[in-house]
Amino acid sequence: MKGKDLLSIQQLSLEEIHKIFAVAKDLKDKVKRGEPHRLLEGKTLGMIFQKASTRTRVSFEVGMGQLGGQALFLGASDLQIGRGEPIKDTARVLSRYLDAIMIRTYSHAEVEELAKYADIPIINGLTDLLHPCQVLADLFTAIEHQGELKGRKLTYIGDGNNMANSLIQVCAKVGMHIAVATPPGYEPDAAIVAAAEKDAALTGSTITLNHRISAAVSDADVVYTDVWASMGQESEQVKRQQDFAGFQINSGVMKLAKPGAIVMHCLPAHRDEEITEEVIEGPQSVVFDEAENRLHVQKAILALVMGGV
Ligand code: CP
Ligand code: NVA
Repeated sequence: MKGKDLLSIQQLSLEEIHKIFAVAKDLKDKVKRGEPHRLLEGKTLGMIFQKASTRTRVSFEVGMGQLGGQALFLGASDLQIGRGEPIKDTARVLSRYLDAIMIRTYSHAEVEELAKYADIPIINGLTDLLHPCQVLADLFTAIEHQGELKGRKLTYIGDGNNMANSLIQVCAKVGMHIAVATPPGYEPDAAIVAAAEKDAALTGSTITLNHRISAAVSDADVVYTDVWASMGQESEQVKRQQDFAGFQINSGVMKLAKPGAIVMHCLPAHRDEEITEEVIEGPQSVVFDEAENRLHVQKAILALVMGGV
């Protein structure tokens, strides 16, 4: 995977996903044993942020440090991008200094533009469309709790946003069934669903979209949700609170899933909106394992695309 970009799960083969999980497991074990693993000695990751972040920033920065390299936080408002310097110029300049770039921004097209002009690996740390690193950490977490992914069912309840889109892509790749329940008008991206259907046909996964929670959640192994208003949608918060009423993970909804189902949320969460306090703090919740695994999975991605393994 040396030199590869990770803008979308769509770019990964099933073999590459399994490779990321295998390296992540090895690196996680090494961290737990206190064993050094300085695979990226002397390498530098640039991290461009147009949006806020807790997990993504800290896990990438700490991860590069553990790998023996360094990470530079580049707040977009402090870069010349914030004053209108074109992405294509920024890409070529930063390629002369850095070994890889992680970017979190609004427009997915901007990340594609960066990747087109940069000659170092570009990693998508979240766009309005996709959040690939998060869903890889999520499925790595599901394996830790439930073993083999193929044939299991993930149910996503809420907004058909970047999380829903990336979950559809990754479930189709690994052969998990995915059911998505959204209010009308908040469905996932149609082009992403259509492309994922092709992978699903190969892996035996099914993709179901509907507007009824009960149908979606029945028999689920993993129940997932995310905020109703994502970053950049703050002005729609009140309208969304009305439109999403009822699209909540609570103990009643969890009774419809399999008894051993786990509950996931990428975080940050709005308690008692998309998920109740009781469920997110309850025994089925694995939200902090997901957050921890961002570190291990992203270190695997960094080591693979920057040539450390
Ligand atoms: N889940 C996630 O990406 O969190 P941050 O916004 O804190 O990075
Ligand atoms: N959908 C959320 C995910 C945050 C990690 C957002 O884009 O704000």
